[in-house]
Parts: sequence; C-alpha cells; structure tokens
Amino acid sequence: MSRLRFDDLRQYSDVLRSRHGQAVTVRFVEPRDAEALQNYFRALSTRSRYNRFLGAASELPPSELERFIDVGEADRFSVVATMPVDGRETIVGEARYAFDSQTAAIEFGLSIDDRWQGHGIGRALLKNLECRAAAFGAERIFGDTLRSNDAMIALARKSGYGFTNTPGDWRLTRFQKDIQNHVRIEPQEILCASWRLAAVSPSAMSSLAV
Ligand SMILES: CC(C)(COP(=O)(O)OP(=O)(O)OC[C@H]1O[C@@H](n2cnc3c(N)ncnc32)[C@H](O)[C@@H]1OP(=O)(O)O)[C@@H](O)C(=O)NCCC(=O)NCCS
Repeated sequence: MSRLRFDDLRQYSDVLRSRHGQAVTVRFVEPRDAEALQNYFRALSTRSRYNRFLGAASELPPSELERFIDVGEADRFSVVATMPVDGRETIVGEARYAFDSQTAAIEFGLSIDDRWQGHGIGRALLKNLECRAAAFGAERIFGDTLRSNDAMIALARKSGYGFTNTPGDWRLTRFQKDIQNHVRIEPQEILCASWRLAAVSPSAMSSLAV
C-alpha cells in the first residue's frame, strides 16, 4: 500500500461524544504528533501502559514510534482522540489498527488517558474503529488483551464481542466481532467519515484501500 497524503487523511476525521457530551475528535496521527504521542504514552499509568503494550514499557521504542506516525504503511493505521484541554488540543486516547486482506480482518489496540477513563471515550472510540473496519470491507474485528484486564474485557463484552483463546499466548484472551457490512443505513447516519465517504462513492476509499 502506498503512503497516504495528509491532505487526504484530514477528510477522515470524526467527532465523537463522551458520556457527558464533550466533543472528542478522532483523526489520523500526523508526523507533528510524534512528541505529544510519546508524552501521552509516558504519562499513562504503569498499569495502563502494561495493559496497552501487553508487558512492561516506559515509552514507545523509537522504531515503534516511527511506525506509529507512518500512517498507512503496511495497511497499519494510527489514530488519536483529542480534546481541547486548557485551550490546547490534547491527546486523550489513541488506537492502532491493521487490516489483513487475506483474512478480511482488522486487528486493533487502544488506550485512553487515565484521567479520561470512565467517560465513555473508550466505548465511542471502539464504535468508531468498527465503522472504520466496515469501510475497509473487513468482515471481522478483533483484539488481544491480558486476561487480567477487567476494563477492556468488560468494554468488549458490553460492545457485543465474543471471546476465544489467543493462539500461542496463554496470558491473553481474544475478543472479536463480526462486522455487519450488509446493513443498509443512510450515509449521514454513519458514525465515521471513512465509511460515509465510501457509502456515497465507493471510489472515495481507493486512497485508503489500495
Ligand atoms: C480499556 C479502556 C480502553 C476503556 O476505556 P474507557 O474510556 O475508560 O471506557 P468507557 O468509559 O468507555 O467504559 C465503557 C465500558 O467499559 C467497562 N469499563 C471501563 N472501565 C472499567 C473498569 N475500570 N472496570 C470494569 N469495567 C470497566 C464498563 O463496562 C463501561 O461501561 P459502563 O460505564 O456503562 O459500566 C481503558 O481503561 C484503557 O485505556 N486502559 C488501558 C489500556 C488498555 O487496557 N487497552 C486495551 C488493550 S487492547
């Protein structure tokens, strides 16, 4: 897949709502986000970072940070959830997802800043990822999490995911859900810009799914 142009990517931004109605923007990561993204990971609690990276890590290794900001490389995408905090656009969450065309599946991981956990942002971001998966034509979306991660397991269960063992790692459980591409809804009711664009004009997705 070719690298994506940021001019193109901006049209895929979405505005979600927290439980109390605060606007949260979800957009693709840009190179200018590198430092803020690393600071975001450093500021996560040890427990949240452990859960996100499935092991101990104080920050993203430089090579991984490079990959995070290289949106579209090998069909891997990173998004940040941002909100204005004290007048500045601030990263309050992130997600990374990868599309595997062979299995028509999207694999993802996500995190929300500890200060903003419990505000319904994780749930809204998860729905947004499902919508992005539908736009790709994915038939299934899944993630792996530590068996001890009660918050992620509860979020996945509430969001209609089923559970199975993660192949090759007994510490993890896999949560997965079928994506309902066949449901006909009007473009304006669609939760994410990418699918809205795809529904209006299938060729609009050509820059994302090469
Ligand atoms: C898991 C995580 C993403 C949830 O995000 P969040 O924004 O706090 O979740 P929400 O506020 O949207 O909560 C949605 C549902 O998740 C469940 N949930 C969230 N936090 C929970 C907790 N601490 N304990 C139990 N259930 C929890 C609840 O069922 C909740 O619904 P409810 O509020 O109606 O009861 C967040 O805790 C996080 O970032 N954790 C660290 C990183 C991580 O574990 N990532 C997952 C690896 S893939």
